[in-house]
Amino acid sequence: MNIKYNYSLLSHNTFGVDVKTDEFIEFDTVEEALTLSKTLAQKKWLMIGQGSNLLFLNDFKGAILHSAIRQMKKIEEDDQWVYIEVGSGVIWDQFVEFCVENGWGGVENLSSIPGEVGAAAVQNIGAYGMEVRETIEKVKAIEIASSQLREFSKENCQYGYRQSIFKNQNKGQYILTSVVFRLSKKPQFKLSYQHLEEEVQKRGSVNLQTIRETIIQIREHKLPDFRVMGNAGSFFINPVISKKHFQRLQSEYPEIPHYYVSQTEEKIPAAWLIEQCGWKGKQVGKVAVHAMQPLVIVNCGGASGNEIKQLADEIQLSVKNKFDIQLQPEVNYIE
Ligand code: EPU
Repeated sequence: MNIKYNYSLLSHNTFGVDVKTDEFIEFDTVEEALTLSKTLAQKKWLMIGQGSNLLFLNDFKGAILHSAIRQMKKIEEDDQWVYIEVGSGVIWDQFVEFCVENGWGGVENLSSIPGEVGAAAVQNIGAYGMEVRETIEKVKAIEIASSQLREFSKENCQYGYRQSIFKNQNKGQYILTSVVFRLSKKPQFKLSYQHLEEEVQKRGSVNLQTIRETIIQIREHKLPDFRVMGNAGSFFINPVISKKHFQRLQSEYPEIPHYYVSQTEEKIPAAWLIEQCGWKGKQVGKVAVHAMQPLVIVNCGGASGNEIKQLADEIQLSVKNKFDIQLQPEVNYIE
């Protein structure tokens, strides 16, 4: 176990906000995480991955925990499937690369998403028509209250669009140690998202490798690299609104993009709402709305968490005023 005190989190959040934590504790094994769990009852603590979905508003008065459990091992295999147990501290994209190199399908569309495996399972990361819940078999985590290792089946994780039990009713109660994935040895490609199929075909043949390359290229084109300009990917979740509300908006804005959710609900791209409010490419002080994808807020250099939140608040207010839609941050504000 590695413990640091009064430690800067600058390299542990992709927004590049310079705050400190009282303690930074990194555990290397499940046994260390069990020992650690017994010390947390009276403490303020937060487990982070790569910090790619967080916004620190202040110095953190407690302990930040980080997993350095980085094994990837095959635990089972049959003609169709392979089951891989992956430590919560593995960099997400290294796992995707490993799967693609081995010819195992199921996560290739999630190439190049920043973050670590534990956080991916908490947030149910998704992109280009794929969500991580589709390949998760189980999640292993330590329950703080009992210091016991528990296993959650995928059903018990209660996954939804960017949702899981670990973000909702069980928030702050578990330390994730590993995730078991079920990957396909006979992959069926998912290429229906916008022009994805056409883009992949330009590379000659359609396979896991060319899908991965295409996704990486699309993301590089649209999304800013946090190592160059701090950001946390999508700042807001795409809102789901009632069909009635949608019809009202559609009569005023016939071009409004939308995705069918159910007979009574439609999902609207937050990027469109934000662009319509005139925010695309706009800079306010040290913070800006990305010019290629207005769903992304960027730190132009040296912005504080509160400066970033202020711009997010203004965006929320203008979308509320214009469309009567309350945008919800996907990014977690940490006090
Ligand atoms: N749009 C605009 N203006 C823009 C960009 C987009 O109006 O400048 C509208 C267009 O109608 C476009 C639609 O928004 O068709 C959707 O845009 P895009 O395909 O870029 O996807 P998104 O819904 O904005 C979601 C995820 C992304 C993920 C992409 C691709 C959420 C909150 N975000 O964005 O995830 O990469 O789909 O699948 O669901 C992330 O979570 O950090 C992230 C980047």
